[in-house]
Amino acid sequence: MELSLFAGSANPSLAESVAERLGVALRSRALTRFPDTELRVELKATVRGHDVYLIQPTGPPVDEHLMDLMLMADASRRAGVHRLTAVIPYLGYARQDRRVTGRESVGARLIADLIAASGIERVVAVDLHTAALEAVFSIPLEHLSAVPLLAEALRPHLPRQAVVVAPDLGAVKLARRYARILDLPMAIVHKTRISAERVEASGVVGDVQGRSPVIVDDMISTGGTIEAAHQALFAAGCAGDALVASTHGLFTGPALERLTALGIKALFTTDSLVVRAMPLAIHPVGLAPMLAEAIKRLHEGRSLSDLLARE
Ligand code: R5P
Repeated sequence: MELSLFAGSANPSLAESVAERLGVALRSRALTRFPDTELRVELKATVRGHDVYLIQPTGPPVDEHLMDLMLMADASRRAGVHRLTAVIPYLGYARQDRRVTGRESVGARLIADLIAASGIERVVAVDLHTAALEAVFSIPLEHLSAVPLLAEALRPHLPRQAVVVAPDLGAVKLARRYARILDLPMAIVHKTRISAERVEASGVVGDVQGRSPVIVDDMISTGGTIEAAHQALFAAGCAGDALVASTHGLFTGPALERLTALGIKALFTTDSLVVRAMPLAIHPVGLAPMLAEAIKRLHEGRSLSDLLARE
């Protein structure tokens, strides 16, 4: 069965690197917009009987990137693919996994249904907001983790007395994986979200006295979580410079000003989304080797076990 890779509009350079690693050329496709703003996708190469992988993180603008992905899937299905996999390194809507206030939508569930309805048969994702999202997909989800890659990138920069910090309860399992790989103690910040842009940290659990914090999270959006955790940690006795590692760097709204104002020593993030130039020491960690390896093994019907996010 022939392997075919298509890049969506969200992160063509990541898709290009994945294709290079696999020693194949990306197939061409056209994305056009009608005057009324509707999108239209046309595949420019035959895919009949192929094992097709669509590479498209659904970061901002989230709806546009999602629609692009689903239209690519629909075009692929109608063109007679044998197997259709979406590689979605960052999955938008993942944080909308439950109702918080009452009469509201649960975006994660709806998006999972739409992805399956578009013809996608399998999803490959990286460090999802919560591993429990697997249960909202009716199709198989391969949940890879960039934590081992980010931890190795962090290692040479670790100060002598460091502590891995989960900036909220949702990040505890992720932080535990970093702490285990780096053989460091761990602490947890108690966070309360006030609004989409504002959070408050009300306490720190764990011994942080005199230690430099390594704050880890699945994503940075407005930077509010990192800012609140940073302030709470230094108020609780942290010393030295802070390092931050986050799989996905969305950097929306006030993120840049917030992170710059904190004086963070270095920020480690992957290229799941296009890495923006920032007045900060950014250490980008490339996902292409891991994604290419996952695609290769799926194509050849081999195990992915050692790449998966396990607790
Ligand atoms: C939420 O629980 C996530 O893990 C992140 O902590 C959060 O989404 C980051 O968003 P922001 O940077 O806007 O605080």
